[in-house]
Amino acid sequence: MKIGVIGIGITRFGEIWDRGLRELLLDSQLRALNDAKIVPQQIDAMFTGNMLGDSLSGQVHIGAMATENLNLDKPSIRVEGACASGALALRQGIKAIESGDAEIVMVNGVEKMTDVDTGQVTTALMGAGDEELEGFHGLTFPGLYSLLANAYMHKYPSLTRDILAEVAVKNHFHGARNSYCQFKNEITKETVINSTMVADPLTLFDCSPITDGSATIIIAKEEIAKKMNSEVFITGSGLATDTLSLARRNTLTAIPAGQKAANQAYAQSNITSKDISFAEVHDCFTIAEIMAVEALGFAKEGEAFNLYKNKETYFDSKHPINTSGGLKACGHPVGATGIKQAIEATMQLRGEAKNRQVLNATVGVTHNVGGSGATACVHVFKRLR
Ligand code: COA
Repeated sequence: MKIGVIGIGITRFGEIWDRGLRELLLDSQLRALNDAKIVPQQIDAMFTGNMLGDSLSGQVHIGAMATENLNLDKPSIRVEGACASGALALRQGIKAIESGDAEIVMVNGVEKMTDVDTGQVTTALMGAGDEELEGFHGLTFPGLYSLLANAYMHKYPSLTRDILAEVAVKNHFHGARNSYCQFKNEITKETVINSTMVADPLTLFDCSPITDGSATIIIAKEEIAKKMNSEVFITGSGLATDTLSLARRNTLTAIPAGQKAANQAYAQSNITSKDISFAEVHDCFTIAEIMAVEALGFAKEGEAFNLYKNKETYFDSKHPINTSGGLKACGHPVGATGIKQAIEATMQLRGEAKNRQVLNATVGVTHNVGGSGATACVHVFKRLR
């Protein structure tokens, strides 16, 4: 599979109080069109990742909103898969091109989360868990990931509180070098450990924040992308699912759907984890990044702590992880995150990541998770020129 990336556009991530869902979406759409140097009429179809439009903005039917924004009447569909909505939308765009249904597809991810209070957002996000087995009993997403963190740290005590904090320290370091990021401040291990407890052992700085933002990527079939001198191509797309609830999960110390999705995407791309120059992974909580790094094959289960202890996940080291700042520092507008990851991968492979640029980057991977691991979608990006 070779699907070209011909345009990218992203808004600032953060608390954006002067724009609604529609304006945010339009902003990233226009930026991507400008980057691709095409007009809206050249787009054959659109897919838009969004999870919370109905519960937080009273707005569904975001597929039609996306085409209305550009005065188009082309096919347009909203895609929902909790926090993996963005990557799922990208996968649907790829499938539309592969099927011959479309040649140029615009894929958006948009979310507006900061107009309501944190309690409402927490309840709405919990829709990604199992309502009967988890939400009804009062569990929240920080709570679910704290269960995973406790299970993991009990089985693998080498992952200490100090080393877990290094995930957030590194992501804030990268975020401080990314202009569209929500938090641009570097932090220390002490900041993480001494910040407010949210769900033991996870403190405020172990958590991704609540964020507004929109991201758009325009993809095209190989021949068209080559004519447009695209350098970046998507060569693999893997998708796997698991139980909604942790109670029914076979393991609490790994996210197997991530590993299955990665294996599919690697096989399609004819690569192993050794070929990967960098990865954007789903660090909704620090423990999630540890499990993601293991799912992608950079370390065996229980051994990712070594990478953080030895500071090997910075942009200029052996395994650059989350050069965008990740969900932790860049922010997590849930439906937009998967597209933001694809944009960061494209920027890295084009050599446009400035002071967080990975040297000689040729292969990038994005890993986007929905719920506590019930959906995982992995894409492989390659620089082919
Ligand atoms: N990391 C660092 N700082 C954060 C932060 C985070 N995750 N979230 C908020 N802050 C900061 C704010 O900027 C603010 O700073 P200021 O006082 O200097 O302006 C301060 O902390 C308080 O912010 P507030 O918005 O009142 O925080 P909150 O208590 O309402 O929310 C969390 C904090 C952790 C509960 C919330 O961010 C959260 O629920 N995160 C998880 C989201 C989630 O589950 N996503 C889905 C994952 S699968």
